Amino acid sequence: MRASDRSEIVISPDDTCDIRITVLAESECDKYPAKQHARRVAAKLGASDGLIYLAGKPTRNWGDSDQQRPFRQRRYFYYLSGVDEADCHLTYDIRNDILTLYVPIISLREAIYMGPTLSVDEAQQRYDIDCAYHYDALKRDMADWIDRYNKDAPVYILHGTQAPDIPLENIRLDERSLLPAMDAAREIKDGYEIRMIREANKISGLAHRRILENIHRMSNEGEIEGLFLDICVSHGAKNQAYGTIAGSGPNAAVLHYVKNNEPLRGRQLVCIDAGAEWNCYASDVTRTIPLGQDWPSEHAKDIYAIVEEMQEECIKRVKQGVRYRELNELAHVIAIRGLQKLGILNDGTVDEIRQSGASAVFFPHGLGHHVGLEVHDVSAQPITASDLAGGRYREFVPTMSTPLLQEGMVITIEPGIYFNKLALENARTLSLSKYINFDRVNQYLPIGGVRIEDDLLVTRTGYENLTTAPKGKEMLEIIRRCGN
Ligand code: GLY
Ligand code: MN
Ligand code: MN
Repeated sequence: MRASDRSEIVISPDDTCDIRITVLAESECDKYPAKQHARRVAAKLGASDGLIYLAGKPTRNWGDSDQQRPFRQRRYFYYLSGVDEADCHLTYDIRNDILTLYVPIISLREAIYMGPTLSVDEAQQRYDIDCAYHYDALKRDMADWIDRYNKDAPVYILHGTQAPDIPLENIRLDERSLLPAMDAAREIKDGYEIRMIREANKISGLAHRRILENIHRMSNEGEIEGLFLDICVSHGAKNQAYGTIAGSGPNAAVLHYVKNNEPLRGRQLVCIDAGAEWNCYASDVTRTIPLGQDWPSEHAKDIYAIVEEMQEECIKRVKQGVRYRELNELAHVIAIRGLQKLGILNDGTVDEIRQSGASAVFFPHGLGHHVGLEVHDVSAQPITASDLAGGRYREFVPTMSTPLLQEGMVITIEPGIYFNKLALENARTLSLSKYINFDRVNQYLPIGGVRIEDDLLVTRTGYENLTTAPKGKEMLEIIRRCGN
């Protein structure tokens, strides 16, 4: 029945009735837009002919064990299928615009132990594909395609190691073009993908908020990680986009600290970088919070204020056409000015200090990256580069060759200032050390570091901040309210 007919129907308690639901518009089917992605990749390949072949992630056990590794779908495969199941394969016939999924044949024993896997009929209904078959049809279909078309067009594969595992003689492969074409296609997100990243952020936001509400009860970094996982998993986000970082005190200066097992007692703040994944799409969110009802020292408060300014000033400039590398540079300039005011950097102009690489001792990573199916998502060209290359501080990198932001990109803005002992010891041996006041720096070592990170959707006129986790004043108010 149509919704508009509803008023004409009267059902008494004794009636039986059939309810038939008709989907009126294709756009109401919320299938992953695999076909649209396949066409997009073909366009990036610049090909009107050829066969794309991708192998999904196979089931694997841990080494020397009968236990399966947790499954994580290959992202390139997901992008062309939306299938988050093991042991699948796909082909996309560019000339005939046919996307085909091959699902595994499983034994009765496997089905009894693991539950039924994806059937051909289910695959056909659930995914935006043209045909689904069992895996044993792949050889037949490929042989057929090769006979007909392979002399004029290649079979595109991602890597030499992902060639079809079927004995086909004289197959003409192209192992070089598909990866860059898919990277370029994935750099701009469509509406479906943005919804997934928004949802991942929503759950991460809830989990970060819950940590703020409960931080006063916690005594170890492990409890922060535990609560984050609890909220994500209970909201349906079983997987995290990356290993949670909950680094207190000096651990906040370790960029990828994941041990998360030290007591919070005596520490000034904790840097929490944690993001849920939703249907294979990432969120990437960092908050740095005081351990106590307010910033426990002027030092901590001052460093937070500099990083906050770096983030706010960069975020407000996000817009199509802006060169991301210039935002990276702006963040360094704000960091240098702030650290000069605190007497941590001295004896040079902002330019001299930037050129020397001294600001990268405190802010060693890039301002951010793309977010999508990977937390550090792929793109045609990196939007920025770290100032720390192979353990050495790079001199200032010119901006002109780096790409511009485009509508539909999702990027992070994640400035940080860290007091990392190893980085500082190394800096003492470099000529840039003349700009650093190490006595002053020593007073800041207990803080560890501050990072604030949000995920931004770039629009034609600006941006939408997809991250909902409280920060700044709102964050402090929650901590105070709940700690009393
Ligand atoms: N969570 C990893 C990063 O911020 O890039
Ligand atoms: Mn990030
Ligand atoms: Mn992060």
